[in-house]
Amino acid sequence: MAGGEGGVAGQARLTRAYNLPVKIVCVGGGPAGLYFALLMKKADPAHDITVLERNRADDTFGFGVVFSDATLENFAHADPETHRAITASFFHWDDIDIHYQGQVLTSTGHGFCGMSRQVLLDILRTRGEALGVTYRFQAEVSDLTAYEDADLVVAADGVNSIVRHRHAEHFQPEIDVHRNKFVWLGTTFPFSAFTFYFRENDHGLWRVHAYRYDATHSTFIVETTEEAWLRAGLESATEDETLAYCEELFARELNGHRLLKNRSLWRSFPTVRNRRWHWKNVVLIGDAAHTAHFSIGSGTKLAMEDSIALAEALARHRDVPSALAAYDEERRLAVESTQRAAQVSLEWFEDTERYFGRLEPWQFGFSLLTRSLRVTHQNLKVRDAKFVETVDQAFAEQATIQSGVQVRAQPAPPPMFTPFRLREMVLSNRVVVSPMCQYSATDGTPGDWHLVHLGSRAVGGAGLVIAEMTDVSRDGRISPGCTGMYKPEHVAAWHRVVDFVHQTTPAKIALQLAHAGRKGSTRLLWEGIDEPLPEGNWPLISASAVPYFPHSQVPRAMDRRDMEQVRDDFARAASMAALAGFDMVELHFAHGYLLASFISPLTNRRTDDYGGSLPNRLRFPLEVFDAVRAAWPASKPISVRISAHDWAPDGATPEDALYVAAALKVHGCDIVDVSSGNMVPESRPRYGRLYQTPFADRIRQEVGIPTMTVGAISTYADVNSILAAGRADLCVLARAHLYDPYWTRHAAREQGYDLPWPDQYVLVKSFAPRGT
Ligand SMILES: Cc1cc2nc3c(=O)[nH]c(=O)nc-3n(C[C@H](O)[C@H](O)[C@H](O)COP(=O)(O)OP(=O)(O)OC[C@H]3O[C@@H](n4cnc5c(N)ncnc54)[C@H](O)[C@@H]3O)c2cc1C
Ligand SMILES: Cc1cc2nc3c(=O)[nH]c(=O)nc-3n(C[C@H](O)[C@H](O)[C@H](O)COP(=O)(O)O)c2cc1C
Repeated sequence: MAGGEGGVAGQARLTRAYNLPVKIVCVGGGPAGLYFALLMKKADPAHDITVLERNRADDTFGFGVVFSDATLENFAHADPETHRAITASFFHWDDIDIHYQGQVLTSTGHGFCGMSRQVLLDILRTRGEALGVTYRFQAEVSDLTAYEDADLVVAADGVNSIVRHRHAEHFQPEIDVHRNKFVWLGTTFPFSAFTFYFRENDHGLWRVHAYRYDATHSTFIVETTEEAWLRAGLESATEDETLAYCEELFARELNGHRLLKNRSLWRSFPTVRNRRWHWKNVVLIGDAAHTAHFSIGSGTKLAMEDSIALAEALARHRDVPSALAAYDEERRLAVESTQRAAQVSLEWFEDTERYFGRLEPWQFGFSLLTRSLRVTHQNLKVRDAKFVETVDQAFAEQATIQSGVQVRAQPAPPPMFTPFRLREMVLSNRVVVSPMCQYSATDGTPGDWHLVHLGSRAVGGAGLVIAEMTDVSRDGRISPGCTGMYKPEHVAAWHRVVDFVHQTTPAKIALQLAHAGRKGSTRLLWEGIDEPLPEGNWPLISASAVPYFPHSQVPRAMDRRDMEQVRDDFARAASMAALAGFDMVELHFAHGYLLASFISPLTNRRTDDYGGSLPNRLRFPLEVFDAVRAAWPASKPISVRISAHDWAPDGATPEDALYVAAALKVHGCDIVDVSSGNMVPESRPRYGRLYQTPFADRIRQEVGIPTMTVGAISTYADVNSILAAGRADLCVLARAHLYDPYWTRHAAREQGYDLPWPDQYVLVKSFAPRGT
């Protein structure tokens, strides 16, 4: 038998010795159910395995499926026979073609293959038949009572799983139905590359995802917004009417070829998640357990990899419940990671109007290719160096125009090493040290720690260093250790830091000005974050008299006099910052501090002109902005750090952030630094790599103001990708700079970019760093 061939089979020989299930029922004969059945039968021919499928053997919906080269390797390991048959039937391609505004951008090196879903199912079923799996077609399963004697029931019944639905209280499904409409069509047009079309008509913007899956056929998925779909009258369209509409729309692209239907109904994509994938002896796999999105072509891959993982877990565990628990635990990470990639990818297609027509073709293409965060500037370079060279060149040309500084290097430098201008401040590169409180000042005066902390990060190569949240009054401090700009000696102490940065490095330095509001009078970071001081407290003010924690000090709701005082304190601090020589000031409108407490509906309960609607809530922060703008030199820029999301029920939303950014733009703000969260203790941000970048991207495209992005950025690959795709103008890194003050230097070295060292350090050029 085939059991000696490695992978699942090799390990699964142990199963009989451990008395593992012998009676297995698979509900659903899609890729997940068929593959699992054959893997288990191969592992042990004594298993009694039945697949129940509602359709006939030769019925199938859809056309082709795609696999990456990496997925095929997993298949080779699990079952060489099916792998051989699959690879003999697929159509392989390396190129992605993006058709955009009359141009075609081609990127190569992507290594995918497409095959007919019907052929795949036939291969899996034929192999299962040879191994002895029993199939019952046209067998509709409506509940599991008939299968109570089974040792294991595998719910592989797809996205609308009846098993999941019947036992929802145990699996706890969460189904998120997305905005766009799509239809899965076929065509006889043989695409030579994975092809994206973007076509605008009177009804809206239409996206096509097309790829060839055999010698004569391609999949052709048409996607659009619900509004465009309704305008086109497609909500009541028959399959033939859909075909006619799409054939006319894409007549030029199809070049005389027809579109094909196969239960081609318009749908909205559902993202399926389940808190648990197993209950007693029942387990969910494939689309029944989770979906990804057709834009990353991972549904069939995930389904078949689930089958492999489940078969392996059963091979390793003595009883079904422990095997199912292990499967759930081990497989979840990989699935969730793919679902995160799918989420950002589907959002890109939901928001394509944001980029369409705004981005130049090269940037639109780069943004599309890097949408899921899986493909970065770095690995795209490995796949297709020429494409990335073109992107870098175009980006450098844009930077030359924007900054007025000629980028001379040839080939063009990585995007992070291009200049950027805000008023008369020109940054030599796009890496920014995020403001980070050091809690090490004495009555607001920065000392040696600040000189070394900020100085070493400027020596470390960042284009801009933003000094920590510095308070405009003594009572505006977060803690007794916070820096300030409220006493004459503060100017001199900051001047020392600024002079060091200016005299010894090309970096620019900014000061973040703030008032802590209700989050003031608290302990140093390492003594209890946001926790009130046990003694020596000072009075607090805020938009409303609402404490941060129930046990925090209650702030006084500000009256007009308080507002004037705070406004004047900000303006005075800005004048002092100018005297200290700072290149830019950043106003802190985020993280729950005083000005943020006005903007968020969670902390602003006022009933006067400064509460209620968003324009009202923003009124006082804008007054402060205007006062600072008047006090700060016209030649120097102002940034505002805003909060794009409160991440709490009834809190401020990304849409509110668009309004805030647009208002700031009108008032003369030069750049917004887009952060989120920390408004209220209940805030639950969805953390993850680059989790705040979509907010910066949206503001940059829709408001048309430069943005800085911050939050979980740690690699130069991500920095270059964000910049080249136009998601932000500058990348701000906080903890990465605590870990490595020379982050930018190290990034330059790894990319082979020559970032000049200070004279004192020139001999480092002859030093070869080695790993441990
Ligand atoms: C537009 C579109 C494009 C896609 N493109 C790709 C792609 O390019 N690449 C890719 O990898 N994936 C793609 N997918 C996803 C892919 O089709 C699924 O993710 C994959 O088929 C999941 O396999 P599965 O076995 O879990 O579910 P399914 O393939 O849905 O199989 C479930 C089976 O269970 C049967 N069934 C359901 N209920 C019952 C019942 N009560 N009783 C008996 N039988 C039942 C169904 O008839 C079906 O045969 C795409 C999906 C869509 C919608
Ligand atoms: C030690 C520390 C102090 C911080 N102090 C400030 C601050 O003074 N002002 C501010 O706006 N954000 C502050 N932050 C938040 C960071 O600037 C940044 O927004 C956050 O850490 C996310 O970026 P990261 O993922 O690169 O760390 C601080 C973060 C850290 C780790």
